Amino acid sequence: MNTKSALITGSCGLIGSEVSVHFAHQGFQVFGIDNNERAIFFGPEGDTSWTLQRLRKNIPGYTHFNTDIRDRSSLLKLVAAIKPDVVVHTAGQPSHDRAATIPFADFDTNATGTLNLLEAVRRACPESPFVHMSTNKVYGDLPNNIRLREFRNRWHFDDPLYANGIPETFSIDQSKHSLFGASKVAADVMVQEYGRYFGMSTCCLRGGCLTGPNHAGVELHGFLSYLVRCNVQQREYKVFGYKGKQVRDNIHSGDVAAFILEFCRAPRCGEVYNLGGGIENSCSVLEAFALVEALTGKSQKYTYVDENRIGDQICYYSDLTKVKTHYPGWGITRTLHEIFRDLVKSWDRRLTPQLPKLSLPGVPIGVHV
Ligand SMILES: NC(=O)c1ccc[n+]([C@@H]2O[C@H](COP(=O)([O-])OP(=O)(O)OC[C@H]3O[C@@H](n4cnc5c(N)ncnc54)[C@H](O)[C@@H]3O)[C@@H](O)[C@H]2O)c1
Repeated sequence: MNTKSALITGSCGLIGSEVSVHFAHQGFQVFGIDNNERAIFFGPEGDTSWTLQRLRKNIPGYTHFNTDIRDRSSLLKLVAAIKPDVVVHTAGQPSHDRAATIPFADFDTNATGTLNLLEAVRRACPESPFVHMSTNKVYGDLPNNIRLREFRNRWHFDDPLYANGIPETFSIDQSKHSLFGASKVAADVMVQEYGRYFGMSTCCLRGGCLTGPNHAGVELHGFLSYLVRCNVQQREYKVFGYKGKQVRDNIHSGDVAAFILEFCRAPRCGEVYNLGGGIENSCSVLEAFALVEALTGKSQKYTYVDENRIGDQICYYSDLTKVKTHYPGWGITRTLHEIFRDLVKSWDRRLTPQLPKLSLPGVPIGVHV
């Protein structure tokens, strides 16, 4: 039997670990790259070594490399040796706020690390599909120029052009991105260029809020995961501006992994997709509090800081029209309710392994709007 191989960077992170398991279930031999840089970016709470143990235990033949994607010569050698059939690039510095304090590490990881991997793949296996995790932050704060309508607990786009959310044709230029958004723009454009210029099967997935039970959510990255953690542990959560009504669309990491597999099965060249939960899976911070409170029975402790995060979007949800048109076999399978249930269960298990597990009540449907 001719087993196909997948090289997954950031394999111990939220998306990388989900993709590793998903591809292994489809019969791929999985090679993971992750140097646990998340623990350097965010301290011990960002440590992902627990995920490495899980991958080693659950994926037969999983091969791990502690390689730093910034180390160009090691990466070139590694990819040349493996010649993977597909490449999924999820390693990165993922925090909007953290980037300002570590600009070199942020750019070297997100932009240069991506270039290193693209060039390594072009030299060794240019036919292999290359999927890159980009972000909605490439649009910077431009979505804030869209007219908004204020509801009791959330903002909403009030312009028929954006009734379904932000499409891929939205400008990424002339807005405030944060340094993180700028390093991700550099990577996004480079991934497109390797598709358009060299004809490689590359694609950028501009993620909304990606979440799931395997996220090591911290204050600076992983909004829902961290919010749920705070509720379960009764820690204080800080809301930054916009009255707590800022909206994000949330997608379960399992749905992201399923899309990546679809793309690898029918790859296209130099593509860009907005990939989030869409309007159906969107919620504001205040709505997220209500959803988690309904599950745990614990009230959310929080403080409100008047100033918003620099360059933060007030309202964002992905228009999923293009992704669904190109890949009609794919769709969102996890509702917001299911995402919250998974997060609560996972934090309950991780934080209180010795205690009896929570039995979770249902969440009222349509809490938002
Ligand atoms: N989680 C989200 O809400 C979200 C939203 C939009 C886009 N994204 C993008 O998706 C990608 C994956 O996000 P995630 O949430 O899984 O992040 P994550 O932090 O959970 O995973 C990233 C992994 O990459 C590893 N890594 C970082 N720098 C590395 C380096 N130099 N060499 C090798 N490994 C390195 C980290 O140790 C970590 O395990 C990121 O590029 C992020 O920008 C995430």
